[in-house]
Amino acid sequence: MIRLHVNIDHIATIRNQRGTRYPEPVIAAGLCELAGAHGITVHLREDRRHILDRDVEILRQTVQTTLNLEMAATAEMLAIAARIKPDIVTLVPEKREEKTTEGGLAIGSAPVKKSLKAAVKKLHDHGIPVSLFIDPEISDVRAAEAIGADQIELHTGDYCNAAPGPPRDKELARLEAAAEEADACGLILAAGHGLDYVNVQGMLHLPGLKELNIGHAIISRAVLTGLDEAVREMLGLLMDVEEA
Ligand code: PXP
Repeated sequence: MIRLHVNIDHIATIRNQRGTRYPEPVIAAGLCELAGAHGITVHLREDRRHILDRDVEILRQTVQTTLNLEMAATAEMLAIAARIKPDIVTLVPEKREEKTTEGGLAIGSAPVKKSLKAAVKKLHDHGIPVSLFIDPEISDVRAAEAIGADQIELHTGDYCNAAPGPPRDKELARLEAAAEEADACGLILAAGHGLDYVNVQGMLHLPGLKELNIGHAIISRAVLTGLDEAVREMLGLLMDVEEA
């Protein structure tokens, strides 16, 4: 079975919007695990727009499956990872102005390659396996292997955004070719970004696919599937007052 890691960043986004104690990402992580998720993914961003340092610290103590920490390869984040020791780190590109991660690492550029290699070595020195979030390009897969990554996560955003039919088939073919190359390179294969309840099944056949990281679609679904009960609970409180 393909492992499902649930990205819970959006729980933290809702909490941070009001500075409340709820919804608590740590509780969300526990619920995901109780439902059978194989792992919890969080992205600690430089601007701390959603997940906070204390979330990662508490999750490290409470997650019973796999804690996947997404982060940029900066000195600050590397020090945090070395201290907290997630089960795996996924290195991602990060831009302050983006709404979400917009693409894979620019792994083809020599300076990026050099800094990623140093980051992977540092994480390995602390016993932490490393996944690199890359675009589905054969050259990028080869570069990930050369850098010493244990795993790659193929960016599925272009596949998800492509219109069904030939444009999506073209993106699927890119993913398939990259997946085959990952297999040939001995890299563990993960994928994610933009996957939802409509498009996910179209890419499950990727050769060697072991893990998916899915966030926005699952949290969005939970808002709607949980709304009925949430309204009923509030009505219950109003009725209590009427009857008092
Ligand atoms: N994988 C990576 C590397 C990401 O940055 C994200 C978004 O934080 C995801 C997967 C999950 O994407 P989505 O929220 O669109 O499911």
